[in-house]
Amino acid sequence: APSSDYQAESAKITQGAVESNHAGYTGTGFVNYDNVTGSSVEFTVNAASAGPASLDFRYANGTTTDRPMSIAVNGTAVAGSLSFPGTTDWTTWQEIKVNATLKAGANTVTATSTTANGGPNLDRLRVGAPSDTEQPSV
Ligand code: GCU
Repeated sequence: APSSDYQAESAKITQGAVESNHAGYTGTGFVNYDNVTGSSVEFTVNAASAGPASLDFRYANGTTTDRPMSIAVNGTAVAGSLSFPGTTDWTTWQEIKVNATLKAGANTVTATSTTANGGPNLDRLRVGAPSDTEQPSV
């Protein structure tokens, strides 16, 4: 099944900033979450039909401390504390995936930091079928 990419820098950002000072991001930049609990990025995801999907978050965390986030779809939590562990440095980007059910049409997907360190640097959300074998990101 095809997948769709949603850039974090184009999403609705609450307590965060669009930056581009660490190489390796896709699109035009990434979101640097404020280092506070509750900083968030909300994507609007369009689904052709209702059903299960994978939500694949591309991020960097140049610290050695996890930056967990809660993930909600249309306001309902699908992961209370999804782990975004350290990636060695801020220019090393990795992906963390969670499955969710989407409705047909517009859905909100929100990733909210759950610790005072805030979220990781968030590059992108990729939405695909749960069975997708996805290509590594550039
Ligand atoms: C550094 C880094 C930022 C990152 C921040 C953080 O300042 O340059 O890109 O967001 O650390 O710890 O959140």
